[in-house]
Amino acid sequence: MIVAPSMLVADFARLGEEARALEEAGADWLHWDVMDGHFVPNLTHGALPMAACRAYSSLTFNAHLMISEPMRYLEGFVEGGADIICAHIEAEDDAREFLQAVRDAGRRPALAISPDTPAGTLAELLPLCDMITVMGVHPGFAGQEFIEGTVEKTAEVRAMIDGLGRAVHIQVDGGVDTSNIRRLCRAGADVIVSGSFVLRHPQGYTTAIEQLRALERDHPA
Ligand code: DX5
Ligand code: ZN
Repeated sequence: MIVAPSMLVADFARLGEEARALEEAGADWLHWDVMDGHFVPNLTHGALPMAACRAYSSLTFNAHLMISEPMRYLEGFVEGGADIICAHIEAEDDAREFLQAVRDAGRRPALAISPDTPAGTLAELLPLCDMITVMGVHPGFAGQEFIEGTVEKTAEVRAMIDGLGRAVHIQVDGGVDTSNIRRLCRAGADVIVSGSFVLRHPQGYTTAIEQLRALERDHPA
């Protein structure tokens, strides 16, 4: 299982150190939550903070673009060192065009679907994706309550991927913690994002990541 802590919950006054600390704590990827205040009712950052941290960590950088126009800002994320670039299927821009542009830039393309978007919406675009992000919460904020229907939706997406005959990651993003990680792995998730559970854990990043991995070991993805 790939653990991708969300930098949204990191200390923005010390992002480079946080990136380094999460790598030392056993994280596999770093998840960058980009929000434009239009697609979601929150405004975080563009590519700059991620680009500034590129030299601090060798981990895979996963940019999660919760923005209306991902094509308009794609170049900044490519130049800034994002490895996997994910846009929302609900965004204004054409998803097929976005996925191709990411691939043409030599990066790995991904699509995210929000809780109210049916998994079937992905069908035609799945062959163009290296990853599908199934949102466990309505996008916009960390620390929200996990939406239980996400488990069933994850299994639905996994069944669609199994029918493809090619490897596509399933990332679950939002509200993931020790209460739901087993069910999500059993349903077919192999990448999990964690903001609050890892970065606000009372015993620190290493213990938090170890607790997630211990539970997943019972049900390897
Ligand atoms: C929500 C973001 C998630 C969120 C994760 O819009 O995409 O990545 O920050 O934080 P938690 O794990 O606290 O839900
Ligand atoms: Zn995210």
